[in-house]
Parts: sequence; C-alpha cells; structure tokens
Amino acid sequence: MAIAEIAYTAEQIRARIAELAEELRTDLQGDRPLLISVLKGSVIFLADLIRHLDLEPEVDFMSISSYGGGRSDTGVARIVKDLEEPLAGRNVVLVEDIVDTGLSLSYLVRTLHTRGPATLKVCTLIDKSVRRIVDVQVDYRGFTSEKFLIGYGLDFQGHYRNLPYLMAVNDVATLAARPQVLLQELPHSAHSGSS
Ligand code: PRP
Repeated sequence: MAIAEIAYTAEQIRARIAELAEELRTDLQGDRPLLISVLKGSVIFLADLIRHLDLEPEVDFMSISSYGGGRSDTGVARIVKDLEEPLAGRNVVLVEDIVDTGLSLSYLVRTLHTRGPATLKVCTLIDKSVRRIVDVQVDYRGFTSEKFLIGYGLDFQGHYRNLPYLMAVNDVATLAARPQVLLQELPHSAHSGSS
C-alpha cells in the first residue's frame, strides 16, 4: 500500500467549496460577514471560499497555541495572534481547515462569544468527528473523514500545505520517520490539481 494516496482531488474540493459558499450565501444574505481564519492551516480554504462568495466578506486572522507548546488534552490554549476587527454586532464565520478533538474550536468559540458577535457560525473543510473529545457545533462542513489527511493547508511537520489536493496517509510511521518522503512521489499531474 502506498504511504499516502489522494483522498480528495482539487476538483472535488473546488466543487464542494462552491456548494458550501452557496449555503453560506443563502444563510448570510443581506449581511456583510466577517470570516475569521484560524492560522495557519485554514488560509488556503479561506482564500478559495471567499472567492466563491459574492457577499463582500471581510476577513481577519487569529492564531492560538496550547500552553506548553504541544497539543494539550485539557484544551487550555492561548492567543498567539489576535484579531484586528471588533466582533460586536457582526455576523461572524469561523473558518477552520479541520476540527479534530474539538479542543481548539471549543476554546475559540468560547473566546469569541465574549466579544458579542450578532451570530457566530463555524465552517470547516474537514470534520474528523470520530476524534472528538469535546462537543462542538459545526455549522458548515466540507467533508467528514476519519483519515489522517495532509495537503490543501494541512501540514505534516511543515510540509505539504501547498498541495492543491488532500492526501490520506496510510503509513504514518514511515512519514514520521521521513517527513519529506512523499515529496519525491507526488505526481506532477496531481500536483497541478488535475487528478
Ligand atoms: C489544526 C487545525 C485546528 C486544530 C484542530 O491546527 O487548524 O485549528 O488543529 O485540532 P483539534 O480539534 O484537535 O483542536 P494545528 O494545530 O495543526 O495548526 P496549523 O493550522 O498551524 O497547522
């Protein structure tokens, strides 16, 4: 079995994002929403999503980290980079690349609610709901997956964010031992987004 294989092609992602944008457009009609991208993984999704929206969305960026560096099972987090825009009275959409345990999202939603947005919705490209530790509400999801995914914003030790498609990793141990191993194997046609 290959170390990793394409899970969602660039075309499948593009088509799904167009559908998500339509859902958002319908729900947010008449308003100018503020879309918040949680760095770093969601920037690619955000960039494609806003280009499918014709709502003149505003964007802002936020970055959080668990205390102590690594991922914390307590969900204790801190803001590394805060928003520039006030949220009071705004229709806000939090844009994530993936919701996994839900700890990051839980912290973010709690934090952002204290700032008084009129509405706060959550839109994620990937919902890995089987891994959930805390219950969080996801309003819009691109795909539900149980797989270990990389590409299209999702990295493995800093690699693969720029892939225009999503790959499912079958052999995590090999990738962990040699994080760049897939770089040599990426088919050019797939890398350009056609397969
Ligand atoms: C990812 C993703 C979410 C979080 C989800 O970020 O962007 O913010 O993990 O995981 P959780 O549901 O278990 O909290 P990551 O920490 O990988 O940072 P990055 O986006 O900068 O790569």
